[in-house]
Amino acid sequence: MTTDPKIQQLRQLREQSKLGGGPERIEAQHKRGKLTARERIDLLVDRGSFREIDAFVTHRTHDFGLDRQKYLSDSVVTGWGTVEGRLVYVFSQDFTVFGGSLGEVHAEKICKIMDMAMKNGAPIIGLNDSGGARIQEGVVSLGGYADIFLRNTLASGVIPQISAIMGPCAGGAVYSPALTDFILMVKDSSYMFVTGPDVVKSVTHEEVTFEQLGGASVHSTISGVCHLVAQSEADCLYLIRKLLSYLPQNNMEDPPFVKTTDDPLRAEAALDTLVPDNPNKPYDMKEVIRLIVDNGEFFEIHENYAMNIVVGFARLGGHSVGIIANQPAVLAGVLDIDASEKAARFIRFCDCFNIPLVTFEDVPGFMPGTKQEHGGIIRAGAKLLYAYCEATVPKLTVITRKAYGGAYDVMSSKHIRGDLNFAWPTAEIAVMGPDGAVSIIFRKELAEAADPVARKAELVKEYREKFANPYVAASRGYLDDVIEPHETRARLINGLEMLQNKRDSNPPKKHGNIPL
Ligand code: HXC
Repeated sequence: MTTDPKIQQLRQLREQSKLGGGPERIEAQHKRGKLTARERIDLLVDRGSFREIDAFVTHRTHDFGLDRQKYLSDSVVTGWGTVEGRLVYVFSQDFTVFGGSLGEVHAEKICKIMDMAMKNGAPIIGLNDSGGARIQEGVVSLGGYADIFLRNTLASGVIPQISAIMGPCAGGAVYSPALTDFILMVKDSSYMFVTGPDVVKSVTHEEVTFEQLGGASVHSTISGVCHLVAQSEADCLYLIRKLLSYLPQNNMEDPPFVKTTDDPLRAEAALDTLVPDNPNKPYDMKEVIRLIVDNGEFFEIHENYAMNIVVGFARLGGHSVGIIANQPAVLAGVLDIDASEKAARFIRFCDCFNIPLVTFEDVPGFMPGTKQEHGGIIRAGAKLLYAYCEATVPKLTVITRKAYGGAYDVMSSKHIRGDLNFAWPTAEIAVMGPDGAVSIIFRKELAEAADPVARKAELVKEYREKFANPYVAASRGYLDDVIEPHETRARLINGLEMLQNKRDSNPPKKHGNIPL
């Protein structure tokens, strides 16, 4: 117990700063079922590793009586700590101080920690719980947001940026998380929207609740804004830790290698019979993924959005990989606007951060219809194509069944710098499915046939024998090998190791012009 008054003053100020907006507001926060900014950080980082900075910062505003309300730390807690021993920078908005609203010093604190994260090459994690721009500070708050947006943009592709929404996130404030790599939302207690229910009602006369307008379920299924839904705040912080385990610290590093007890040569007999004989019958591509990756662990991103394509992280022989897989169990795995954009964004993230891409392909083509054409499937499909073409990380592809039409080209084909392209014997690689192809190329003959149904069946059989297999593509070298399904894990791990020192680059340019 020190008697030094200066030390006592310091300790007392530290204690005061930890109280945020005071015990009553902390209690109110708990009553809402929410943790405080500091409690969240404690769950996020390794025990005892958090080092807070700027705890003595207070706002500089005099208007609207704010000069009589000052709180140490203001409304955001910033600092760094470790997750599984690896450095991360964190800001956590404190709803107990002015509703976590963002004013001048709040923004300055976030900018400082973002600058440190950039300079020192470690991920930045933002825990968002804020009433938005601090109304009393006016345009200074807006300027503060813009300072953060700029940093989000400059940090993009340099360090991983992860945003958790753990309360309100409204108005222009949504654009900082939206500029980051991943958004997690806590079920039932978080929401994001550009304009709230009142404004919506006055402008469009629609009546919606906060949850219906911008809750976790809406953003994880309809808009695609949210990448991961957490069941609780603790779950959210756990998911961030898990996500980080697949990522490098920055774009100059490789992702962490995690030694595995799962045999790299493990043969999985179940794969040999997983694809049904009937090409129109679905199967679950996630089952294929789980049977192949280390310990069956697949960390899915955007699980409930555009479910006709599956994306997520896994490890193969200890190496972190990004998986992109058509899902024949949903809409036959067709590529539509949402699926194309979902996959394109994931591919670009992986490419930024040196995470190899493993593609499992079973795709009947792009989705037909006016809704898709008028909605811009051309532009959306081009995004996916662009993302694959541009990617220079190792690219491995396994065609399990259909690879039809433009979708064959798009899904990491050899022609767009696929490094290792395998097919299972069940693969069908053609301009289109046998039925459609026969109807077009034999239209005249079928119209004149005595028994058009029987003749069509014959022609479909002929077409299937000729084209609906992997050997035409393999004979041209468009596939590197046709493999037995059970050896897929071993072949992919071998391929990843073979490609470990891959070097490839794109022509020098300011930046490309992805079809947005
Ligand atoms: C200052 C704010 C604030 C804000 C909340 N508070 N939002 N103070 N600026 N934006 C304060 C409240 O005065 C209150 O202070 C405390 O935070 C808790 O707020 P409550 O309203 O009591 O909490 P709750 O009922 O849970 O409602 C939370 C809320 C509501 C839904 C977020 O506070 C709200 O609607 N706030 C305004 C949201 C808003 O319109 N923001 C501007 C958006 S536009 P006391 O002292 O009582 O504890 C924007 C533009 C950004 O952000 C543009 C960037 C380009």
